Amino acid sequence: MRYMAEKAGEDAEKWGIIGLIHDLDYELYPEQHCIMTEKILRENNWPEEYIRAVLSHGWGLATDIEPVSRIEKTIYAVDELTGLVATSALVRPSKSVLDMEARSVKKKWNDKRFAAGVNREVIEKGAEMLGVTLDELITDCILGMRQVAREIGLEGMRP
Ligand SMILES: [Fe+2]
Repeated sequence: MRYMAEKAGEDAEKWGIIGLIHDLDYELYPEQHCIMTEKILRENNWPEEYIRAVLSHGWGLATDIEPVSRIEKTIYAVDELTGLVATSALVRPSKSVLDMEARSVKKKWNDKRFAAGVNREVIEKGAEMLGVTLDELITDCILGMRQVAREIGLEGMRP
């Protein structure tokens, strides 16, 4: 999210925080995903803009908050995609995003058994909303994940 914000000339700190908290409720309340997050954020007086952005990542799945702003469209588009990129990286010999390109992810696109939980339609819809091609979105997602490869465990083997 920080990478995507910088690319769009937006506030990386804000986008990063929204990315960080977007699944806040998932571990404790998987059955009430997004609903509990909204409750917690409201109780703690979070700004409406943050609440809307977080809820929009679950549009059509857990909420009816349609992504409208750039940040909303972005979190909606990359939430599922980061999962597919991460899984694609982990099956590589290097186990890393550092040497991975968009085509590695594209190869897995139509293999429904691979990362079966990742909703490809959501990613396609997200790219369309952002007005970018799927290839561009995947490339940006990889570039963003490379910047935090160590933190997310996708740096691969240490030499
Ligand atoms: Fe989620």
